[in-house]
Amino acid sequence: MAKNFKLDLIHRPRRLRRTASRRALVEETVLSPADFIAPLFVVDGNGRPEPIASMPGVFRFNLGDLVKECRELLKLGVPAVALFPKLDVKLKDEEGTAALNPEALVLRAVRAVKKAVPEITVITDVALDPYTTHGHDGVLTPDKTDVDNDRTVEILCEMAVMQAEAGVDFVAPSDMMDGRVNAIRRALDASGRTDTAVLAYSAKFASAYYGPFRDAVGSASAAGTHHIDKRTYQLNPANRREALIEACLDEQEGADIIMVKPAGPYLDIIREVRNATNKPVAAYQVSGEYAQICAAARLGWLDLAKCRRESLLAIKRAGADMILTYFAKDQAKELAK
Ligand code: PBG
Repeated sequence: MAKNFKLDLIHRPRRLRRTASRRALVEETVLSPADFIAPLFVVDGNGRPEPIASMPGVFRFNLGDLVKECRELLKLGVPAVALFPKLDVKLKDEEGTAALNPEALVLRAVRAVKKAVPEITVITDVALDPYTTHGHDGVLTPDKTDVDNDRTVEILCEMAVMQAEAGVDFVAPSDMMDGRVNAIRRALDASGRTDTAVLAYSAKFASAYYGPFRDAVGSASAAGTHHIDKRTYQLNPANRREALIEACLDEQEGADIIMVKPAGPYLDIIREVRNATNKPVAAYQVSGEYAQICAAARLGWLDLAKCRRESLLAIKRAGADMILTYFAKDQAKELAK
């Protein structure tokens, strides 16, 4: 190579990466605690927080500890929580009837949080999987070969109204039945709950990344089957256009927020949904995405804090306005430093 080799370049993009202050000026995406929604698991009783083996650092809380956690999150600037109940197996049945109990755990949890920390936005799942022995998100057809769409939607509407009456801010149908967003919107309005918003799990894929969550709420092992097959209602991971159809339908049906789930492996879908709607877009960094990063960090193979931040940044850059993430508290703490 020649001694004074110099390229004759007009464009040298590295100029803007030279110093920390130049990099700060051209930074396009910035994470804030206000981007996060913390999913929280809740159990009955007065026990100590129960660790979840496949989700290090995540616990199932009793109602008292749940309220404390919500207070801490709000203080850190995290504006919202999504509550998931883990039911005693004895309370589950084929029809998921415990979902319509007026004293259901999740309803008591909503009331407790809303009473003690009224400023925090509380979100609850509308789906039957924590309540059914088979772990499906709805009730089964008579021959038990499929989830019965319309009968499930009827139950979900009742569930959503009960959650709204308990004081929840957003109901989040995560069941993927056809027509449920519109039916739930109408049921809420008919009961005078016009201010309760619908955060729709619109593009929810049949993903293997939900494994640790199913351990956390016991929706995989209740029936003794570990690989519950939800492919007759959740989306095929191979399908991009179908995800857009679901997102557009939910928008037409009255969803206030459109969600994509999982997040990290589906950044293309987040971006497409972002471009297809003017509604806010949420993304759910699911249990398996969390577990993956934690596991590699435990082995010393990845830097936990850096991968956590990068994974969340990528989801926001793809177009998510808000991110459900089990990293919410730790990331908010880091951002406060
Ligand atoms: C159930 C529900 C699931 C998750 C949220 N709501 C699991 C499933 O569909 O089996 C997964 C969340 C996660 O993996 O973190 N309707």
